[in-house]
Amino acid sequence: MSTEIEKPQDNNMEYIQPTTDQILNTSTLLCQEDQIDPSILEQSLKTFGDNYEDIEELALLGHVIPLVAQNPTTPVKDLELSPNITKEELLKAYKWIQSSNMLKTVMTSHYYPDYMMIRYAQTFLGDLAKDPQYLKDVIEHKPLTPKRLEVHVTNGTCNYRCSMCLWHVDNQAKYEGDKEILSTEDWNKVFKQAAEGGTEVAIFSGGGEPLLRSDLGDVIEYANKAGLYTMIYTNGSRLEKLSKENSKLYRSLLNADWLRVSLHSTDEDTYADLVHLPREKKPLSRVVRGMKRLIDDRDRLGKPLKIGIGFVVQHQNFDQVSEIAKLAKELGVDLLNIREDCIDITQNLSLEEKEVLYEQLREIRKDLDNGVYGDMKIDFADTMITKMNGWEKSPKVETPNECKVHLYRSAIDPYGRVAVCDLVSEPYFATEDLTLGYISKEKDYAKVLKNSANKQFKTENCSKCMPGQQAINALWYKVLEDNKVGITPENQPLLFREL
Ligand SMILES: C[S@@+](CC[C@H](N)C(=O)[O-])C[C@H]1O[C@@H](n2cnc3c(N)ncnc32)[C@H](O)[C@@H]1O
Ligand code: SF4
Repeated sequence: MSTEIEKPQDNNMEYIQPTTDQILNTSTLLCQEDQIDPSILEQSLKTFGDNYEDIEELALLGHVIPLVAQNPTTPVKDLELSPNITKEELLKAYKWIQSSNMLKTVMTSHYYPDYMMIRYAQTFLGDLAKDPQYLKDVIEHKPLTPKRLEVHVTNGTCNYRCSMCLWHVDNQAKYEGDKEILSTEDWNKVFKQAAEGGTEVAIFSGGGEPLLRSDLGDVIEYANKAGLYTMIYTNGSRLEKLSKENSKLYRSLLNADWLRVSLHSTDEDTYADLVHLPREKKPLSRVVRGMKRLIDDRDRLGKPLKIGIGFVVQHQNFDQVSEIAKLAKELGVDLLNIREDCIDITQNLSLEEKEVLYEQLREIRKDLDNGVYGDMKIDFADTMITKMNGWEKSPKVETPNECKVHLYRSAIDPYGRVAVCDLVSEPYFATEDLTLGYISKEKDYAKVLKNSANKQFKTENCSKCMPGQQAINALWYKVLEDNKVGITPENQPLLFREL
């Protein structure tokens, strides 16, 4: 069932495109002040073309706006709201925020830490607002199919040995030897059942290097046929060979929707050292040639495939961030993700290394704003923005006791273990406590979902929560707690209207 979202009364005058300095200054105001002085707020609203009703509304907004910006996922019951504010007034402020040019522009910009989460919240809250039955089923512990599904099609097989990677077989990954992995037909059935249950996206993200699976072309095609949006992560090492052979796998990549190549250095020798291959093999050049061919073929055939680069900052590459942005632009990719690692390698950079890193990131952000990168998108890890802004304080992201990530985005390992998330479907992090069930000849995916509907999972059983999953858990927490006091998903302040 789906309902139209009622459009609130617009509170904006004509949208004015603010300068980047204005966005940064407003972000600082919203995130660093506990309460905004009405005259300063009035000035900021004018800058963004926002309107307010009267002086009382201005005072209310001066109180609620920083609370939302600094605690975007905190349920109303835990917000430090002034006792004079009634629920009706809060709802009024939330509604105003939904159609505020200022809040949307600032909180979805790369001047607001957690902007990736806020952008994600648009889809997440939008899905919930469109489909009230989905939230009802969550509350009643009815069987649910996640909107997004991560699939690990290989069991640690990889031709690289990236220094920071936990998941290739020589590092901590402990895949189960000769045990049979899911077949092409098994995956076909999973995708069909997933799509029937409401899954929209299939993400080929882990388990080693997916492109080393010989029947991956068929597996991707099945996901496509089931109507799923297909996303693929790869080290890119096989692209050139596959394209020369024009293999079925290569054609299926061209038919996919999104593909990101992990490319952690722009220097041939550093790259070879990082992936643990002999320098004389020049593995970086091979990846770059493969990417060029893929981009050329995509353009020649007019395919909608989005192609990107993922760059995990670490000791060997913290000074090559500007270079990777340059290479991404030269190649003509659609997006560059500059990311932190998930085991504190980026955080363990020395202060001097971090300064070199943040200086480059600030420069890239400036160039991005000045149109130097054209249509190419560059995303920075949420955690980097606070440092780029030179702030001490970051907005708070809630960490609830219960993990509900699997209700929105779960994962299946190569043997058919359905896990709460991508991370715990990798053997190094896998635990029974975070497993929904096992796909087998007797029990298909739909049955596993049905049988696990009542299972509850604790965040304390998870050794390391990734930022994307933290964001989903925090959003679930706010939505479910607020729903108990009558604030439904369509009333959430972070569900911004179109500008
Ligand atoms: C495990 S890999 C699997 C797919 C493929 N082999 C690849 O390298 O893209 C999935 C993603 O995790 C990233 N990755 C590896 N080790 C990481 C770490 N310690 N922290 C964060 N991301 C990591 C990779 O760069 C890649 O983007
Ligand atoms: S290519 Fe991917 S799976 Fe292989 S070692 Fe590197 S990060 Fe890990």
